[in-house]
Order: sequence, then C-alpha cells, then structure tokens
Amino acid sequence: MGNMFNTIEIKDGVITVLDQTRLPREEVYLEARTTEDVWDYIKRLVVRGATLIGVTAGYGMWLAMKEVLSGAQENRELEAEEIMVIDMAFREKAKYLDSARPTAVNLSYAVKRMLGRWERIMDSLVSDDPSCAVPYITPLEILDALFEEAQAIRDEDEYSSKKKGEYGMEILKPGMTILTHCNAGALASVGCGGILASVYMANEQGYGIKVYADETRPLLQGARLTAWELHKNNVDVTLICDNMASTVMKQGKIDAVIVGCDRMAANGDAANKIGTSGVAILAKEYGIPFYFSLPTSTIDMKTATGDDIEIEERDPDEVTEKWYAERMAPECINVYNPAFDVTDHKYITGIITEKGIVYPPYDVNLPKIMGVEE
Ligand code: MRU
Repeated sequence: MGNMFNTIEIKDGVITVLDQTRLPREEVYLEARTTEDVWDYIKRLVVRGATLIGVTAGYGMWLAMKEVLSGAQENRELEAEEIMVIDMAFREKAKYLDSARPTAVNLSYAVKRMLGRWERIMDSLVSDDPSCAVPYITPLEILDALFEEAQAIRDEDEYSSKKKGEYGMEILKPGMTILTHCNAGALASVGCGGILASVYMANEQGYGIKVYADETRPLLQGARLTAWELHKNNVDVTLICDNMASTVMKQGKIDAVIVGCDRMAANGDAANKIGTSGVAILAKEYGIPFYFSLPTSTIDMKTATGDDIEIEERDPDEVTEKWYAERMAPECINVYNPAFDVTDHKYITGIITEKGIVYPPYDVNLPKIMGVEE
C-alpha cells in the first residue's frame, strides 16, 4: 500500500537512500558512508520531507558515532577520559548534521533524541543508583544502543504514517477529490504514505479518491514526486501549476485540501512548502476544508507562533535556471527564494496526527494531545 520503493534502508551497516533529485526520470539509490554524505543528501534534497529528514538524521547520528569510534577496538572497555573525548566529538558532529536545513523540526528532533540516548549511556556509567549503574561500556555497545534509537525513530514514523492514514480516512468519503501541495506522501516518510496514506487506504476499500497535485515551484516536488508516487500507486492524479489552484477550487473540483507540515508552532501556525499558505487562504474563500497531516514529532511546543519559525532560503538558481534548458531570467536579477511559508492557524480546519484529529481551538487542544497541559 502506497509504498513501492524504499526511501531509506540499512543494508549490511550501510545507509542507502532513494535519490529524490533524480525522480521521476530515474530510480537511483545512493549510499551514505560518511556524516558529510548525510548532511549533503539532506541539504540537496536527495532525501527530503520533514519526517524522512528526521529518520535519515537518526541514522546519520549513528554513523557519526561510528566515525568518532573508528579505530577503537569494538569490545574494549572505554576509559572515562576517552568517553569525554568521544562526547565532545559526537556533539560537534551533531551540530553539523543539525545545520543541514533549518525549518523542518524533525531534523533537530532526531539529532536531540540521539544525543539524549548518548547522554543516558554516559549517565549510566556514573549512576548513584546501583540498579541503573553499569561498570563500563564498549564501542560496540554504544553503537548498538544508538542504532536501536535510530531504528525506533524510523519505526515510529512508519507507525504514525499508518495511524495518520487511518484517522485521515475519517474525513474522506467515496468519490472525493483532494488537492495537495508539495510532496508529503510515501516519499517523505518510511511508512505507507505520509499524508497520502489515507488516500491509498481509502482506495483499497474502493473509495476512488482522486488527487490534484500542485506542481510546487520552484523545486517541483508536486510534479516530480507526488504525481510520480500517486501514479505508481494507481491513484487518479491530475497535475496543475500552482497558479491554477484558485480555478480548480472555483470550478468545484476540490472537496478538501490535505498537506504535510515541516514545523507546527504551539498555537497551530504551520510551516510547510512555500505556497501552502496561499492554498489555505483560497480554500477558506471557497469554503473548502483545509487539513494538515503530521506526526506529533512535527509539533514544536517550544515555538510559540509561526513568527518564531526560521524559514530556509535557498539558492536563487532554483528559480532562474533549474529545470530550464536555458536561464529564464536576466543575469544579475534579484531573486528571493524562501523554501517555506507559514499558514496561520485560523485557516486550518483540522490537524490529522497519529493520535487522532485535532480541531480548534489549537492553543487548547494541541497542548492536550502533546500531554503538556498546565
Ligand atoms: O523542501 P522539502 O521537499 O523537504 O519540503 C517538504 C515539505 O514541505 C513537505 O510538505 C513536508 O516536509 C511534510 S512531509 C512529512
């Protein structure tokens, strides 16, 4: 269901990722053998989409520790001074990986979570509580523990993809047509389809859900990725340019909009691919329900509102020449290329999560679902 490719896989200790920059022309898999490879693949969007970035970063942190420990004998007990050196080196690599992209919170979530696991290992070496204390640790044990944590991040993404799919079914009815922006489907996760999981599940039950995909300028995630994965999974998909969304809505072709999210603030404001906020405003104008679908790991309760979310700015070439046979803008023209925008929570009908659908008021209901009520 919704998954005829592996976005990321670990084979014989090597991280292999599907190169999304080459889709839909070629299905090519690349190996990430160093922390630099992982950073580069995240930066260049070889792997992209908030949750997949998080999963990749989890394995990247395991790889980073492997590099830090390279040369140390697998089964040797490490000395306290060595642990301090390892700690410093590992933190440096964590900072580096975290710097690959700023907006999707799942990157820093995964890096922090892997650091947290490492901190628990260190704490267990000096614990006053005899039931938790361990006398020593070996490189192999450290790597096993970090791999287990990375695997847990991966498994949780797979689980939440499925649960979001099931809860998302609540808003779908047979014969509906939805509009989506960017790619937040199976290619943006390890699971059965990210936000598109509900579509795949519904269609397995004969709902016949159709999808309009915004092409999503400038990197064309809608045209290259969403259209590709939906078509591959036999979903009736129609591609439109971003500036056609208003027309198809006005023509009554769209019953609901569902998009993914890169970071949701505590008040429900949501950063997603540039263009999303415009679609949300149009949906409100035409009375079309607008949903975000995201795992709770994408909700950042430490960020109060959308104004506090850092928006990535990318290379001007993505606007002026990428995808064109020849440059389409005058040389030296000013270009502004923010990769994300923030949709105000007032435009959001509901938020589909692995714990259920959250409805307004978000400043009350998000803390509830996140278990951080006063
Ligand atoms: O720049 P990208 O391709 O990483 O942007 C991806 C998106 O904006 C997705 O909609 C978002 O990450 C949600 S996918 C889980």
